[in-house]
Amino acid sequence: MRRILVAGNWKMNGDEAANAALVDGIVAGVPEGGQADLLVCPPFPYLSSVAVRLSGSAVMLGAQTVSEHPKGAFTGEVSAAMLGELGCRYVIVGHSERRALFGETSATVASKFSAALDADLTPILCVGETLDDREAGRTEAVIDEQLDAVLGQSGADGIRRAVIAYEPVWAIGTGKTATPEQAQDVHRHIRSRIAAHDAGIAAGVQILYGGSVKGDNAEGLFGMPDIDGGLIGGASLNADDFLAIAGAATRV
Ligand code: PGA
Repeated sequence: MRRILVAGNWKMNGDEAANAALVDGIVAGVPEGGQADLLVCPPFPYLSSVAVRLSGSAVMLGAQTVSEHPKGAFTGEVSAAMLGELGCRYVIVGHSERRALFGETSATVASKFSAALDADLTPILCVGETLDDREAGRTEAVIDEQLDAVLGQSGADGIRRAVIAYEPVWAIGTGKTATPEQAQDVHRHIRSRIAAHDAGIAAGVQILYGGSVKGDNAEGLFGMPDIDGGLIGGASLNADDFLAIAGAATRV
């Protein structure tokens, strides 16, 4: 049985005071029952202070991106080992904003994925199509290309140590969520693509949905057979909103 993971991607938001209130609110309200694991991914400069505030709680820490290089002359970059030392267990790779705004190709993302694994971090690999892709019937082809780059470099064994997040670009920050059925169709496709390499790994990997997940739509999404939680942007910046999503995870 796959557990549910509810991960907050804070993006470039927050400050010390707001983060303290957010983290304390989340920690105080973690739902009883333990069906869902909770994760927060703050911006790099706040990882340390958030780690201190999370210590002793069940809420885990992750980062939003990572360098594909282990060390060296890469001004401004942060390595996977550094993230591990700060207490991160997860790192998001290939978020659509990284792909669209910072020129990350599927090959770069595959290298970041592999760098995360090398440092014993769990990569959360984001895949997803734009509205144009969907309307042109290219959803599965786009996702296959993004997934295959990682499978080619790290193999199914890499996926075994990872989490996948399906995030349709048209649903991110737009308030337009994929319906549970639309999301389930793509999640099933992702699982079958991995199953072509290794059925056991495909059955075990967590596949999150991301894109305008809120307290009132989370239960429908998390109730689908191949949806194992959410990657939450906007609603992860408010403790009550984030906890409402975590609460939905305990009801499915
Ligand atoms: P959103 O963002 O929940 O604000 O749509 C999701 C994401 O970008 O991970």
